[in-house]
Amino acid sequence: MAIEEEMVAGEGTAVTANQTTNDTEAFENKLRPTDFSGYIGQGEVKQNLQVFLTAAKNRGEVLDHTVFYGPPGLGKTTLAMILADSMKTQLRVTSGPALEKPGDLASILSNLQEGDFLFIDEIHRLRMPVEEILYTAMEDFAIDLVIGKGPSARTMRLNVPRFTLVGATTQFSKLSNPLRDRFGHVEKLRFYEDGEIGQIITRSAGILEIKIDSEATEILARCCRRTPRIANRLLRRMRDFAEVVHDGKITKKVVIESLKNLSIDVQGLDFSDQEYLKTLCEKFNGGPAGLSTLAAAIGEDEATIEDVIEPFLIREGFMQKTPRGRMATDTAFMHLGLSELS
Ligand SMILES: Nc1ncnc2c1ncn2[C@@H]1O[C@H](COP(=O)(O)OP(=O)(O)OP(=O)(O)O)[C@@H](O)[C@H]1O
Ligand SMILES: [Mg+2]
Repeated sequence: MAIEEEMVAGEGTAVTANQTTNDTEAFENKLRPTDFSGYIGQGEVKQNLQVFLTAAKNRGEVLDHTVFYGPPGLGKTTLAMILADSMKTQLRVTSGPALEKPGDLASILSNLQEGDFLFIDEIHRLRMPVEEILYTAMEDFAIDLVIGKGPSARTMRLNVPRFTLVGATTQFSKLSNPLRDRFGHVEKLRFYEDGEIGQIITRSAGILEIKIDSEATEILARCCRRTPRIANRLLRRMRDFAEVVHDGKITKKVVIESLKNLSIDVQGLDFSDQEYLKTLCEKFNGGPAGLSTLAAAIGEDEATIEDVIEPFLIREGFMQKTPRGRMATDTAFMHLGLSELS
């Protein structure tokens, strides 16, 4: 599979706590499963996609446009790559913010080969004039170009090869209705079970030739916020501690000590999560507190809070979003060892 990077995904965008940096990118690619069998969990999504792929292949058609949504690090980009690989076609990679002008997208579309996959990461961040080009491209495999300016301007329709658009977003609700309606398949990725994260750790440890025992894997799996990217990142940190401070093997003792050094608690809450919850519980008496107020109080940007911190805290029952603002639950107070203030 050839991957042509139009631009590094995420460039020019707010860097969030979970986003890849150049340092981790090489590892991410090394650990990325390249087929469905290596892709752990997300059973329903995988099953559906395999049916749709087989159906499209048997009919000699391209796969219908597909969008993946869910919090960062759950495997959206990985799935897009697996799709292109299983159709044995090229995947062109770009992202919403990278496409500044309609012409940028038009040139990518007209350079596609029949059956190619076009992956647009952060598709909710497409600019409207660019998004409008996509509408006819997705529906009619054609783009309308405006040639000239002023009264002499005319529109020319240009056919583009049949392709599959794969979109990925952490904020599905921000997709406009016309764009959302043009996707044939909408797949939501969910947080992973601890057992699945354990399997991912074992798989990654095998690839990176890291020694880790089953007890250590089990404890570590519970602290990865149910997210593969975090599992891979923590595994590498555990290896650092195991190699430098211990005898090289990751054991229960290494995991417990290292997590403490990294300020990660038993349920995988990292420093930012703990700070968020402490602020909500202690400073705001459990809420309700507005997003912008909380963001200012902990010095984090609103997008990071909404996309990275909150989905996991909500999923784990530590807080709720209500029309009046964010509210901590009893679970949060218990976790922090505070009794609810009245
Ligand atoms: N189901 C899975 N099985 C094994 N490894 C996985 C799985 N999902 C993700 N990973 C690993 O986690 C890393 C992050 O996945 P990926 O880049 O696909 O996430 P993403 O959803 O695209 O995140 P973002 O929203 O930040 O772009 C990958 O390098 C891959 O190795
Ligand atoms: Mg991605």
